[in-house]
Amino acid sequence: MPGLLSSPVCLTVIWFLSWSLRPSRAQIQTDEVSGVQYGRLGSNVTLACGKSQTRIPVVWHLNQSSALPWHKVTSDGSLVLLHTDHSAQGNYSCYDSQGLLLHSVKLRLGHPPGLLSISCQVPNHTHVRCSWVDSVKTFLPAKYNATLRGNGHEWRPCIVDITRKHCDVYQPRYWVTIHTLRVTETNGLGSETTYGRFRLHELLKPDPPESVLVKELEGYSKRLYVSWNSPSSWPLHDAFPLVFHIRYRPQGSMYWSEIYSDVSPVIISDALAGHLHQVQVRARDEVNSDSQWSEWSPLLLVRPWEVHTTTEPTEEPLPDDDDYPETSTAKTHKPEAEDEGNLGLVILLVLFSVVILTTVLSLIFVVWVRQRRRDHLAIQELASMVKMKSMPI
Ligand SMILES: *[C@@H]1O[C@H](CO)[C@@H](O)[C@H](O)[C@H]1NC(C)=O
Ligand SMILES: *[C@@H]1O[C@H](CO)[C@@H](O)[C@H](O)[C@H]1NC(C)=O
Ligand SMILES: *[C@@H]1O[C@H](CO)[C@@H](O)[C@H](O)[C@H]1NC(C)=O
Ligand SMILES: *[C@@H]1O[C@H](CO)[C@@H](O)[C@H](O)[C@H]1NC(C)=O
Ligand SMILES: *[C@@H]1O[C@H](CO)[C@@H](O)[C@H](O)[C@H]1NC(C)=O
Repeated sequence: MPGLLSSPVCLTVIWFLSWSLRPSRAQIQTDEVSGVQYGRLGSNVTLACGKSQTRIPVVWHLNQSSALPWHKVTSDGSLVLLHTDHSAQGNYSCYDSQGLLLHSVKLRLGHPPGLLSISCQVPNHTHVRCSWVDSVKTFLPAKYNATLRGNGHEWRPCIVDITRKHCDVYQPRYWVTIHTLRVTETNGLGSETTYGRFRLHELLKPDPPESVLVKELEGYSKRLYVSWNSPSSWPLHDAFPLVFHIRYRPQGSMYWSEIYSDVSPVIISDALAGHLHQVQVRARDEVNSDSQWSEWSPLLLVRPWEVHTTTEPTEEPLPDDDDYPETSTAKTHKPEAEDEGNLGLVILLVLFSVVILTTVLSLIFVVWVRQRRRDHLAIQELASMVKMKSMPI
């Protein structure tokens, strides 16, 4: 027998057996640990200790620790977690009385999906992007399946971007009046399907015009030059022309002036000379009046061309386009000059009145002092006269 045990054949067999058994046992353990069980937050969650409930009593651990949340263990060794909250999540393991691992499971808690709130953007005739937000926070990873169809047509997949929670359809049946989007959210606790109905031609909303440029026109104190590009997401076919809406106002003014144009650039010819102006441009499908205006392009600031001298505006006339090129510039400079003049006058008046007041006051004082001295002398004279009278002669 010892000879047999020590025989190389037997050793090889034993080594082979232990080698082949070890990974298989490890395999079982990792499989069991990688198992995830989902439970509803706030409910009682039951975790079974594996499939066979033979080896009771059992001991449960959470994250390798024997400290467990509020719970009870049933007669078959299952762990019932009562009124669970987020802190009850983690790796649960059950062991038999010898400390042998029987089962391990990861518990994740959350809520089943609720209805979604869906909205769609149509930046051109060939692209629909729909995005959604959850109405309930599920705390659980979810998958989405989205399909779009035009009324009377088949469902077509809407390609989902799971991290950004949106989906894209290219080449939709744009001319079908009503489209339906169907989004199914699925997580470990269930699934929910939400339907949204849309009229694509009403959702059509181009991106804002790009590379908007505003600048002064040299020699023109009331003109501004505005140019832009169509949004790059808009197909530049003549079949889908855009109309552009330009608005501008002197900074600080409440009222916008407007221009509509099919083409870039436009010249604004009634700017307020010498003032900083705000300018913005937006775009819309020219044919489809149900469609939406794009957002406004970012606010740009520009000042019309000015004569950069400090001399009086009485030089050679400016080559302006309106009837009063001179007065328009003069107008804006005059109030400031007048203000300065007025201020000087006021200061002069105040100084003058102070001088007058001081003079008058000092005159009064002098007169008063002299009067007093005179009175004093008179009293002294009187007194001496009385004295003299009373002297015995
Ligand atoms: C959870 O279990 C406790 C104790 O067994 C029980 O009183 C309670 O009603 C249960 N709650 C739910 C939501 O089932
Ligand atoms: C839970 O188990 C997973 C899978 O084995 C492991 O990656 C993770 O680190 C464990 N977490 C804790 C807190 O033990
Ligand atoms: C257990 O580990 C998980 C991470 O795997 C953690 O979220 C949870 O809070 C831990 N629970 C306890 C009671 O330590
Ligand atoms: C999405 O749903 C459609 C119809 O219900 C189905 O045919 C398709 O296989 C689903 N796709 C995925 C990725 O689940
Ligand atoms: C329509 O817009 C999308 C993105 O907004 C863009 O990727 C696509 O190229 C555009 N289509 C055309 C024909 O320009």
